[in-house]
Amino acid sequence: MGNVFLELGSGGVVVADPASVLDPRLRVTGYFTVDRDLPARMAALRRFVGSVLRGAGIVVREVDAAGWANWREVWRPVAVGRRLLVRPPWAAEAENRRAEPCAPAGTGGRIVVEIEPGPAFGYDHPTTILCLEFLEECVRGGERVADVGTGSGILAIAAARLGAARVLAVDSDPVAVRAARENVARNGVTALVTVCEGYLLDGVRGPFDLVVANLTLEAIGELLPAAAGVLVPGGRLIASGLVRCRRDEVFGALAGGGFGLAGERTAGGWLAFVAERG
Ligand SMILES: C[S@@+](CC[C@H](N)C(=O)[O-])C[C@H]1O[C@@H](n2cnc3c(N)ncnc32)[C@H](O)[C@@H]1O
Repeated sequence: MGNVFLELGSGGVVVADPASVLDPRLRVTGYFTVDRDLPARMAALRRFVGSVLRGAGIVVREVDAAGWANWREVWRPVAVGRRLLVRPPWAAEAENRRAEPCAPAGTGGRIVVEIEPGPAFGYDHPTTILCLEFLEECVRGGERVADVGTGSGILAIAAARLGAARVLAVDSDPVAVRAARENVARNGVTALVTVCEGYLLDGVRGPFDLVVANLTLEAIGELLPAAAGVLVPGGRLIASGLVRCRRDEVFGALAGGGFGLAGERTAGGWLAFVAERG
């Protein structure tokens, strides 16, 4: 959906989670310059939304230049764990403008993962942050990593920046594959990270030391046998995207799939875990 906004000329897109279970609507906000073509672009957007989503509505509001600047303000640098910093590309430019000539930009010595907020998932969602925290603990250097459902590429890039020897990043959505490739290049890790379009680990041959997957419970359940197949004995699976209330279901499936639980963590109703292949 975000991609359609961008193709119609939107300068940025914000996809907000549903406010609550009582209001499960997804809100997608795009920012467009007011010009002669705007009515035609809004008509195209209405046609698209009407054709794919029953009951969805479009609201058009005018915002001034300050409102546009605020869009960038939404994407703040986020310090994760002890060593990582996730930030949008323009944060470095702003930082460099503030810094003294020749002074390094202010990252506090953290490893930077630069992500362009766009149509693909993966910046500061609690499930992403939980996976980043576990990655920081599990990647010691030299690991072979698979990132299943890479979205913006954030976890694959973080694994490479933390010292993984090579990373395979897979996503079934071509829009995410494109965004991930762009972010991989932006972070200078093209030699370490390969981004492919694919379904879970279908057709992927191991071995891997680490598989990371921020997906739904159903997709993780489906992934377990393939993850067990490509991981070395003692290799680890980091997974999130699971709601906390389904914890027992998840851990039951793990035990049946040849994995032992090595750690779990929660944030904002979401659950993440690390499991070790027996
Ligand atoms: C919740 S996002 C996670 C993005 C990123 N890894 C992060 O942690 O922020 C899930 C991603 O998985 C992809 N995905 C969903 N089902 C998939 C499947 N069966 N195979 C591959 N990718 C899938 C989606 O397109 C989406 O980009």
